[in-house]
Amino acid sequence: MQIVDVTPDDPARLDAIADVLVDGFAGSGADVWQTREDALETVVESLGEDRISRVALDDAGRVLGWMGAVATYGGWVWELHPLVVRRDCQGRGVGRALVADLERQVRERGGMTICLGTDDENGRTSLGGAELYPDPLAAARDLRDLDGHPFAFYRRLGFAVVGVLPDANGLGKPDILMAKRVGAVPAADASTPVSLTAVE
Ligand SMILES: CC(C)(COP(=O)(O)OP(=O)(O)OC[C@H]1O[C@@H](n2cnc3c(N)ncnc32)[C@H](O)[C@@H]1OP(=O)(O)O)[C@@H](O)C(=O)NCCC(=O)NCCS
Repeated sequence: MQIVDVTPDDPARLDAIADVLVDGFAGSGADVWQTREDALETVVESLGEDRISRVALDDAGRVLGWMGAVATYGGWVWELHPLVVRRDCQGRGVGRALVADLERQVRERGGMTICLGTDDENGRTSLGGAELYPDPLAAARDLRDLDGHPFAFYRRLGFAVVGVLPDANGLGKPDILMAKRVGAVPAADASTPVSLTAVE
């Protein structure tokens, strides 16, 4: 497997990525990317400025998975959106490899954090269909996977739940917000006086 930049000069590859996006999200409960046209729009958008767009290919050049990211907070934070692995290739380390690749890409660009939102639109976590107010963070702290929701994949890769946006996709359909520090933390000394203290 190799992971390379997506470039605009190969329309057949852009179409192949769009097909993987449609296929990979079928069954997620999301109503995005139901057609190749919708998906292609997202893939083309990923080629813009302040973006990262990387595709995993097998030895024959077939698309195994794809990932996009966009810079926010002046480049300190990159939002992963989206990540998809071809359905018949899931569970073989492609997703892990794409995320590891993104971590390298972000570090090389001087970024500190990767963030993402992973929606629960069909009750696959303890937050789906639940009343999260008045204390959404308490519910997020007790987050449980009920049916192979991707937040568990990200948690395995070192991402932490940093919040939840209730009703992000309609009543009872929250977005689970996650983040991981990927930048270097310099040792505190006279030239770098910034250090972090533990929260009590
Ligand atoms: C989520 C997704 C990207 C994972 O990619 P993948 O290639 O199947 O995952 P990997 O094989 O690299 O898995 C890495 C690790 O995470 C675990 N894992 C993968 N999916 C998981 C899930 N849904 N729940 C819990 N653990 C999971 C694997 O068992 C593996 O664990 P290990 O530490 O024992 O090796 C892929 O399933 C996918 O494309 N799903 C559909 C689209 C989607 O939901 N995208 C994310 C939306 S935010």
